[in-house]
Amino acid sequence: MEPSNSIFFVLSSCFLFFLVVARKESTLETSEDAIEAIAHHYQTVKLSSFISSSICSPSINGNKKRGSLEVVHKHGPCSKLSDSMVKPLTVEEIFSHDQSRVDSIIKTRKKDIQGSKTTLIAKSGRSIGTGNYIVTVALGTPKKLLTLIFDTGSDLTWTQCQPCAGSCYSQIEPIFQPSSSTTYSNITCNSTECSGLSSATGYPPLCDSSTCVYRIQYGDGSITAGFFAKDKLTLFPDDPIEGFFFGCGQLNEGLFRGAAGLIGLGRDKLSLVLQSAKKYGKVFSYCLPSTASSTGYLTFGSSGIDSNVTYTPLSKSQGNSFYGLDLEAIYVGGNKLSISPTVFATSGMIIDSGTVITRLPPTAYSALRKAFRAEMTQYPLTKSASSLLDTCYDLSKYSDVTIPKISVVWGGNVNVEIPPQGILYPIEDQVYCLAFAGNRDDSDFGIFGNTQQKTLEVVYDVSAGKVGFAPGGC
Ligand SMILES: *[C@@H]1O[C@H](CO)[C@@H](O)[C@H](O)[C@H]1NC(C)=O
Ligand SMILES: *[C@@H]1O[C@H](CO)[C@@H](O)[C@H](O)[C@H]1NC(C)=O
Ligand SMILES: *[C@@H]1O[C@H](CO)[C@@H](O)[C@H](O)[C@H]1NC(C)=O
Repeated sequence: MEPSNSIFFVLSSCFLFFLVVARKESTLETSEDAIEAIAHHYQTVKLSSFISSSICSPSINGNKKRGSLEVVHKHGPCSKLSDSMVKPLTVEEIFSHDQSRVDSIIKTRKKDIQGSKTTLIAKSGRSIGTGNYIVTVALGTPKKLLTLIFDTGSDLTWTQCQPCAGSCYSQIEPIFQPSSSTTYSNITCNSTECSGLSSATGYPPLCDSSTCVYRIQYGDGSITAGFFAKDKLTLFPDDPIEGFFFGCGQLNEGLFRGAAGLIGLGRDKLSLVLQSAKKYGKVFSYCLPSTASSTGYLTFGSSGIDSNVTYTPLSKSQGNSFYGLDLEAIYVGGNKLSISPTVFATSGMIIDSGTVITRLPPTAYSALRKAFRAEMTQYPLTKSASSLLDTCYDLSKYSDVTIPKISVVWGGNVNVEIPPQGILYPIEDQVYCLAFAGNRDDSDFGIFGNTQQKTLEVVYDVSAGKVGFAPGGC
């Protein structure tokens, strides 16, 4: 364990005392209590722990899970894709793609409410974004390795396929060749699975000489289209999913560069979660690494879930196209922000693996920013160079930083402490910003993004309708 990791571990194990201390705050009597309270409300973190190094150092915790896939950031030294093939994006590029993903999710929801054809409109036009994490799985017989983006905001799994009748972008592994797999078959147009594409992708299927054809057009201009097919998918050795339905992409363009395609972990019937329900009981969990130079995991099934995971119910108000959660409160430095509960109830909130920065209703974000700035007065606030983040500090004179703890409270009184890497985001040399942003309008969806999920074990139990969190996952 690196020294910085052990600091987080110690800090996160103080978490359970947090609320108790927070409640007691007004009645503190001894200075010892006061010191204890301060220790629980602040954390001192090395700045180096926010920065991805040029060398991959796998998380020790991250590998503890048996039978899990290693998760790495697409643009980091642990990624096979990070070499010459995929030029790393600038922070501004990441934020601009992130905003297009958020805009498309918000637009989707507005249409969802207005439209009658809910499911058709619900999925289409969603932007893939770039804040993506990848895993390597095997497809076909004999098995071929493919590195795929995983996305809780999509349902259909797809990969680029030979002969790339339209076009394929370059990817790290050889492009999947259906004719070399003995277990591959096309899906016919008249099958129920083919009709299921409408709800899984938002686009009705097409038909090419009795073969079902899928297509997805993402909001950012990315496209995949091709034959709807099935083949053996192997996530874990010796445990294949036979006859897994996926898109065999003949025309592929967009922001996926380097990755062979995408794994859909949404709630539709055609998502991997539902297709593997018999085997894994509609349960999956992941831990996203603290930086791009560390590793996390993605695993399926309920064995090995940390006993410290606390669960909040999936929100009923968001329908079935997102993982909706009910945000109830935010604490900064042990103090509850005074935000009317109707603010969160009006906006609603979802958890998303592909959005980078958490978005809050502007009223809630203003309260968070005000409280955070008040706790950070010892550091020089600098003019923001970022289009998205507006509370930035010049930390060039420091090697570590003392920041207030931030935690969110989900429905059912589930407290989740945001890890330090989810509080500050390095945007340029020595400049670190509060890693949250406000939406344009209080009625827009809040989104709990992947920066705030880093190092947490996040469990999606779709059968039981709940999502759980535990600290120190990787
Ligand atoms: C659960 O949390 C407690 C206190 O934070 C910690 O001591 C314990 O090791 C954790 N249990 C597991 C299984 O991680
Ligand atoms: C799948 O369907 C397409 C289009 O009809 C066809 O070109 C291809 O050969 C089929 N593949 C297999 C393995 O049947
Ligand atoms: C679908 O069409 C094929 C021929 O194209 C036929 O053999 C098959 O029985 C049909 N299946 C269904 C479920 O109608």
